[in-house]
Amino acid sequence: MSDGVDVAVVGGGVVGLAVAWRARARGLTVRVLDRGELGGGTSRVAAGMLAPVAEADPGERPLLALGLQSARRWPAFAAELEDVTGLEVGYRSCGTLLVARDRDEAEALERELELRGRLGVRAQRVLPSAARRLEPALAPALRLALDLPGDHAVDPRALLAALAEACRRAGVQLQPHTDVPDPRALDAGRVVLAAGPWSGPPVRPVKGQALALRDPSGPGLVDRVLRWDGGYLVPRGDGRYYLGATMEEQGFDTAVTALGVYELLRDAGELVPGVLELELTETLCGLRPGTPDNAPLIGPDPDDPRLVWATGHFRGGVLLAPATADLVTAELCGEAPEHAFAPGRFAAEVRA
Ligand code: GLY
Repeated sequence: MSDGVDVAVVGGGVVGLAVAWRARARGLTVRVLDRGELGGGTSRVAAGMLAPVAEADPGERPLLALGLQSARRWPAFAAELEDVTGLEVGYRSCGTLLVARDRDEAEALERELELRGRLGVRAQRVLPSAARRLEPALAPALRLALDLPGDHAVDPRALLAALAEACRRAGVQLQPHTDVPDPRALDAGRVVLAAGPWSGPPVRPVKGQALALRDPSGPGLVDRVLRWDGGYLVPRGDGRYYLGATMEEQGFDTAVTALGVYELLRDAGELVPGVLELELTETLCGLRPGTPDNAPLIGPDPDDPRLVWATGHFRGGVLLAPATADLVTAELCGEAPEHAFAPGRFAAEVRA
C-alpha cells in the first residue's frame, strides 16, 4: 500500500500534514493516508486556539514548555505556508481574555493568575470596566478578567487547505479514503501514526460539541478570544465565530445534543449577550485525542521503533503541530531529539 516511500503518515489532519510537509522538505519521500477526507476528523472541527498560557496546568510543565515553543514557531509557520501556497490560514495575533461571571469564578481566576506568575508566563488582572473597554460586547455582570496577550488563534479549516496544498506542491502523495487497520503492516521505511483519537491505546476520544456562528453585519462583536469556565468564543476576524466546547467521555459518539447546544449558548449569552443574535451556521462535534496525562505521544514506539507516534494532542493539536512536526522530522532524519513526550512512558498501555 505504501511501497516505495520513506515515510507513510497515517492520518491527514493538521498534525499528520504538518509532519508530512516538514519531512518532505528534508528530502524524504512521503505518503499520507487517511480513513476519510484529509482533515475530515478532529482538525476540521477544532477551534484553532493557540493557547499555551490559557491551558497551562501546574502538573504539565514540559507540556507548557512545548506549547510556548510551538506558539513562538506559529507566526513563521503561518507565513511560510501562506507564502508557498498563496492561501491564507487565518492566523490572528488577537490575544485572549479569561473572564469570570461571579465571585467563585473570580476567585478561580485569581488562582489562575497566581499560577501563571509561578510558571513565569504573561497574564494580567483586568478589572471589569477595563475589560469592557477592551471588549465592549462583554456583559455588565462581568466580575473579573485576565489578559493573556500571547494566546492567539488560527482558522483550522483554512490551515488544513493550506497544509494539503503545501504537501501537494512539495510532492507528498496524498491518499484519502484509505483504511489502515494495522499501521505496522504498511510497507514503508518508517510509519508515522498521526490518527488522533483513532490511534488506539492509550489514546481515547474525548467528545467536544461546538457551534459555528456568523454576524451578517461583519466583524466587531468581539476581537479577542474569550474563555470562561466551560467554554470559549473564538472570533475569526471576518464576522465568523466559533463557540466551544463541551468535554465528554462518550467514546466515539459524535451526536450533537440539545443539552450541549443549550449549555454553550446559555453560558456565552450570559457573558456576551450579542452572541444570541448571531446566525447559527453549523453544529459541530469532534473527538479530541486524550491521553492518561493529557500530554501527546511523540516519538518511536517502545517495541517497534519503525513506528513513530505523533498523536494524543488532546486539546492542543493545532497549537502543537509545528513543534510536533519538528520533533518527528528530526526523529525520521535520525537526529533522535530528547524530550518528555516519548510513547515509552505508556509502554504497557501501548502494548495492550
Ligand atoms: N482546544 C480546545 C478544545 O479542545 O476544546
